[in-house]
Amino acid sequence: MAAELSPIDKAKFVAAKRAVDFVEGGMKVGLGTGSTAAWMVRCLGERVREEGLKILGVPTSSRTAELARKVGIPITSLDDAKWLDLTIDGADEFDSHLNLIKGGGAALLQEKIVATASDQMIVIADAAKEVAQLGAFPLPVEVIPFGWQTTKALIEETLVSLDVLGRDCTLRMNGQTPLVTDEANYIVDLHLTRIGNPRQLALVLNQIPGVVENGLFIDICDIVVIGHGDGRVTVRDINSGDDHDDRVDLAPGDNIFADMKE
Ligand code: 5RP
Repeated sequence: MAAELSPIDKAKFVAAKRAVDFVEGGMKVGLGTGSTAAWMVRCLGERVREEGLKILGVPTSSRTAELARKVGIPITSLDDAKWLDLTIDGADEFDSHLNLIKGGGAALLQEKIVATASDQMIVIADAAKEVAQLGAFPLPVEVIPFGWQTTKALIEETLVSLDVLGRDCTLRMNGQTPLVTDEANYIVDLHLTRIGNPRQLALVLNQIPGVVENGLFIDICDIVVIGHGDGRVTVRDINSGDDHDDRVDLAPGDNIFADMKE
């Protein structure tokens, strides 16, 4: 069954499988959201069930919480855990500084809070997520529903004086109605094409009334594990400068992931 995985799913899977090697017994672990993070939750659940690994997970969305429960990972809230050893999450883009765009799965708010409250953040991604400059992926910004059109207009006005290529902003929809996040907010996607100064943009966006948080993760990620379709993984550590390739071999039993929806 493992042979039936598409190259992209295989890349996500091997990145996830390698990243859970960083988890040790007794750790409190932030559990990311998205299709790559879902592979990670499954891999971690497998270690909990088969090795008796003792960990406590803090999910970053209701759907990750549901999956964690399903695969047997004990979970708690961030307020209960207080501080985490490690968070493992996906990303929509990462650059050479390991700055990220996140929020494609609309969970950026909890993801940023959880990652920031962790000693270490590991991002898992397929190679297509690596970019020379952030911004091709629309930047998600979480806004409160009250006055969202005014907030969106203020964001558009603010972008005029910033180093970005595009300025189109769109409300994320879920069919005919606005998409509502776990925190009951909306998402405005900023189609910027190229972000010249991500640090400045992240700071400026969060000054706008009505903006709750933006999807730029600056200086938060420590390690990226990049999966490749041939089973190779590249592990890049921004703090030590280490950058090396490993290999993850797929076992026939890895077909337990075949029923995943994310
Ligand atoms: C969710 C996220 C995800 O981590 C990001 O969208 C990547 O998702 P995927 O692994 O499905 O490509 O930020 O809010």
